[in-house]
Amino acid sequence: MTSRKTKSPEELRSYRWLGRNDLRSFGHRSRLRQFGYDRADWDGKPVIGIVNTWSDINACHGHLRDRADDVKRGVYQAGGFPIELPAMSLAEPFVKPSTMLYRNFLAMECEELLRSHPIDGAVLMGGCDKTTPGLIMGAISMGIPAIYVPAGPMLRGNWRGNVLGSGSDAWKYWDEKRAGRIGDDEWNEIEGGISRSFGTCMVMGTAATMMAIAEALGLALPGASSIPAPDSNHPRMCAAAGRRAVEMVWEDLTPDKILNAAAFDNAIRVHMALGGSTNAIIHVIAMARRAGIALDMARFDEISRQVPVIANITPSGKYLMEDFFYAGGLRALMAQMADLLDLSCITVAGRTLADAIAGSKVHLPDVIHSLKDPLYPEGATAVLTGNLAPRCCVMKPAAAEKRLLRHRGKAIAFENYDHMAREVDRDDLDVTPDHVLVLKNGGPKGGPGMPEWGQLPIPKKLLKAGVRDMLRISDARMSGTSYGACILHVAPESFVGGPLALVQSGDEIEVDVAARRIHLDVSAEELVRRRNAWKPPPPHYPRGYGAMFSAHIGQADEGCDFDFLEGQAAIPEPEIH
Ligand code: FES
Repeated sequence: MTSRKTKSPEELRSYRWLGRNDLRSFGHRSRLRQFGYDRADWDGKPVIGIVNTWSDINACHGHLRDRADDVKRGVYQAGGFPIELPAMSLAEPFVKPSTMLYRNFLAMECEELLRSHPIDGAVLMGGCDKTTPGLIMGAISMGIPAIYVPAGPMLRGNWRGNVLGSGSDAWKYWDEKRAGRIGDDEWNEIEGGISRSFGTCMVMGTAATMMAIAEALGLALPGASSIPAPDSNHPRMCAAAGRRAVEMVWEDLTPDKILNAAAFDNAIRVHMALGGSTNAIIHVIAMARRAGIALDMARFDEISRQVPVIANITPSGKYLMEDFFYAGGLRALMAQMADLLDLSCITVAGRTLADAIAGSKVHLPDVIHSLKDPLYPEGATAVLTGNLAPRCCVMKPAAAEKRLLRHRGKAIAFENYDHMAREVDRDDLDVTPDHVLVLKNGGPKGGPGMPEWGQLPIPKKLLKAGVRDMLRISDARMSGTSYGACILHVAPESFVGGPLALVQSGDEIEVDVAARRIHLDVSAEELVRRRNAWKPPPPHYPRGYGAMFSAHIGQADEGCDFDFLEGQAAIPEPEIH
């Protein structure tokens, strides 16, 4: 496509740093020449900031160091000047207590990196869970043209000829090990076989869900999110993104021209059709609020009832992201559900979603089903409310045993994660498969950072008896690679005095997923008595980022953004003195 130039070189943002005939610009230019560049490298050209979340400890992004060079190749090809800006990597397996504590940190970092440097357009390189929403939230708030480059999923895992999926099979075989069905040797082999290449988790976890959502929103090139990280299509996509970023600057194709209510509805529909991670709900709400679009949990439930799950991918289905790519990827899935999407939305490619999916076909019909032959007729995600979760909670019914979708049982309440870890495997724990495990203080402030504790372990004595699922309720999140009847994101959280704080062991809890109801069957008088006796836990942090986080973080139903980062109030361009 030929770019439609809407601005002159003098109107580029970077011109203020590099183009003027004054002492400051002399200083900026001389410092670029220090690298060996010359005027021909930048004069009259859009400067593209490549915000790269590569790091030595994030194998999901292990290839992004090299792929930044592919992006640069594309930027040069299109007549731009690339500048790579490293940003916090947020390696999901390593960052403690939870990467969610730092998503907003990355969002701030991305926004301010772009604002404080002579950048005209951005390429955002990420993929591991929180990096996608963090980068996109920052780019939305900054408001310059930006294109997202997904890291892509890793290859399938392998153990003795068995396919292994990230996370999902780790939980599965860990339970087998706890139940004594596999030994240390097998476990060690699984450890070496489950992550075979760079790239994100290759199940439909949070990473794959968020990469697909970014594409469905129109923020990534068509087809980009499904390409496995080691595939040679991936560096080609990176170069194309670099080229396109330059064109987007000339076209002034800013995020606000791409992101509207219809684009977010498209993204939620795709999320549901994929059977995507529950975590995505928090991130999509946060991104929408940054874009000035009112979106609440009710909208997810509404769409969930309209859209069947058609992607047969773990943990809701049986295949992995590599299979999804061979089956045609996200373009093919969106083509299957085209009647449910607003195809007039535009993408970073500068064309409509209709153009983006034109000609795509499903090659493996058992991996991507049709709307007429879905995996589940409705509802990847159910949003429940009731006296236990007045501001909602979520569940993934497709990943739960059916008997638990309408259930009444006695609570076993754990006050916090350590309490749960001490108690859950005790041989004398009075627990049956009908009990409801409740975990408190796992929310945004209580965790802190809303860790992925929501898939509470099945008590060992029940595991040994063959029990594989139980109803579990918490204000925490759950890894998108997890499964089970886990009710998550209870809002308001217990740490701030939400009703979950008042649950005691022995209370009866009722859940009816079809009716979207969750109920703590305790009299109102008794709940008032407990509330009067409740004391807020002490704060986690005396100072530092954690203290700022605790003071400003929102609840799950609000997207867990910082209050001072929300909104669209314009921030002045930096003075250049
Ligand atoms: Fe990075 Fe799962 S650990 S995507």
